[in-house]
Amino acid sequence: MTSIESQTLRTGVCYYPEHWPESRWAEDAAHMRRLGLSVVRIGEFAWSRLESPDGELHLDWLERAIDTLQAAGLSIVLGTPTATPPAWLVNRHAGIYAVDEQGRTRGFGSRRHYCFSYLPYHADCARIVTALAKRFGKHPGIIAWQTDNEYGCHDTILSYSEAAIAGFQQWCRQRYTDIDALNTAWGNVFWSMEYTDFDEIGAPVGAVTETNPAHRMAYWRCASDAVVTFDRVQVDIIRAHSPGRDVLHNFMGNFVEFDHHALSRHLDVATWDNYPLGFLTRDGEDPDEQRRYLRTGTPDSSAFHHDLYRGCCGGRFWVMEQQPGPVNWAPYNPAPLDGMARLWAWEAFAHGAEVLSWFRWRQAPFAQEQMHTGLLLSNGEEDTAASEARQVADEIAKLDASELRLTTNRAQVAILFDYAGDRAQRIQQPDGRTYDPLQHVQQVYRACRELGLDVDIVSSDAELDLYSLVLLPNITIDDPVLAERLSHLDATIVLFPRSASRGVDMAIPDSLPPASLRKLIDVTVIRSETLPPEETLVARGAVASTITAWRERIRSELTPAGRFEDGWGFHYTQGRVHYINAIPDRPSIRVLLKSLCAEAGVAVTPMPEGVRTRRRGGLRFAFNVSDTSHSISDLFEEAAADRIVFGEEQLAPAGVTVWREA
Ligand code: GAL
Repeated sequence: MTSIESQTLRTGVCYYPEHWPESRWAEDAAHMRRLGLSVVRIGEFAWSRLESPDGELHLDWLERAIDTLQAAGLSIVLGTPTATPPAWLVNRHAGIYAVDEQGRTRGFGSRRHYCFSYLPYHADCARIVTALAKRFGKHPGIIAWQTDNEYGCHDTILSYSEAAIAGFQQWCRQRYTDIDALNTAWGNVFWSMEYTDFDEIGAPVGAVTETNPAHRMAYWRCASDAVVTFDRVQVDIIRAHSPGRDVLHNFMGNFVEFDHHALSRHLDVATWDNYPLGFLTRDGEDPDEQRRYLRTGTPDSSAFHHDLYRGCCGGRFWVMEQQPGPVNWAPYNPAPLDGMARLWAWEAFAHGAEVLSWFRWRQAPFAQEQMHTGLLLSNGEEDTAASEARQVADEIAKLDASELRLTTNRAQVAILFDYAGDRAQRIQQPDGRTYDPLQHVQQVYRACRELGLDVDIVSSDAELDLYSLVLLPNITIDDPVLAERLSHLDATIVLFPRSASRGVDMAIPDSLPPASLRKLIDVTVIRSETLPPEETLVARGAVASTITAWRERIRSELTPAGRFEDGWGFHYTQGRVHYINAIPDRPSIRVLLKSLCAEAGVAVTPMPEGVRTRRRGGLRFAFNVSDTSHSISDLFEEAAADRIVFGEEQLAPAGVTVWREA
């Protein structure tokens, strides 16, 4: 593993030299430097300009672009162009396209028009990536490589093409070895779904009614593995030819369609693309939230992803694409409040980002993204985010040398996030309107952040020993190894509904949920019920908790903290292990979490609505996305005016204030 060449906070931008006359490149590069940018990502969609149908490569222009950018003092991230194979290439492959659930081919004319399981395409990718890596691998201007672009964007993980189904049959063969083992594991005796050969297995779509959850889970695992395999081809080539450079991929927001922890194992840095207002209007936040945070994004959306992706590559993460103004792809695309481009940048740095890179340099006057803003207008004049980019660079310069090598502090609180667990819940989702598994995790996260806590979001194989409070909102698949590790922790451990409620093949464990986690706490889930959107239940005890969406009946010798009207218990505790057998609403989660923090010895600083804080190194940051100003010294005892590095004592809407902790 390598590390970024200088451990400073850096800002950057995504640039497409192939979109602009070569005579413009030097001026663009100089202008980037004038905004304080020092990283530039290029190349990720340029295949049609890099190779022609006769196999001839055209890399000279790219070399001139790299040289020009480097000469201006920019460090380059070179993207591999495999998200956009050109028309001549795809026309050579009858089977390359993905097929959707309805059997429609997802053809040429935009991007991501390939199926991960179509193996001949891997060879094309290997060819172009080898050519790029050999030519530019040791170029001094190149600090990192980005593989492909946003795996899964435009709903492209699950494909039902012939190649995907053949790949799935092969995957099943390897995993189960003999067909009876698969039939048993999946429970195929039900409805006479038993197979006599792996070749009989199709995709779990297009049936008369619901397909077997085991089948869907296996199909998802196979698709997720196919992404990892696809990426690995490129990473191995790059590593062979480009020593000392980071290899990274840009993940997305609110996106759980493949196992990002598994992919990250062979990357150096997890990066992600942050479009807070796009996520707000696209991803169904409630209407009040949408109104309140229309121009800022919700207080925890960006932070959640920073913490999630920081946990993917041992702490190293970047924001590869940052929204600068209105985007083009959400249902509606408001402009951010002035100051938000700066706030989002500092929020990323506060959560540990090494690099924050805006998307894109200059608004494109042609093709699909004309409505997407950049740092420059399409005519090359500066747009509003440019001055905020300049301001961020000026503010970075105010940090002293040791602060520039800031490490991210380990938080006291960990949330375990499990992609397979999320998928298992999605597959057996009772009611999408009242209960979304990812939103459930985000609610738990939000409650932590409302209490002023720093949070690490980690995978279930992460080191957990140093955390005081460990929250497990989506550990759905029974994992005896994890249960054993948890049983040795000296921490407050909180299990949520559906914990260990399924085996790897989606069967209910023989011992009933929470299966192996019962070694931590004496509870047995004997019934689960789901509630319609407006329905709530109240559990009364020392405090009242309001429950939405999901409730479990528990059999236990333990005395619950509260009881529902029908006598069933809520919230069981054994030692420092808690089982929360229902989904509390937002205020109830907050109250609950506060008491858990008290037990765990984690100090809380309750935040006013829309205000958040984060520590990095010896610095503390405060952010405000509410519509009122707040005095920093009223909120934080230690925030003396003479310790402020930048920002104001009065934290205005879209404000950022940073101070040195005592
Ligand atoms: C990202 C993508 C970019 C661009 C951007 C627009 O999803 O990686 O290429 O399309 O969205 O917001």
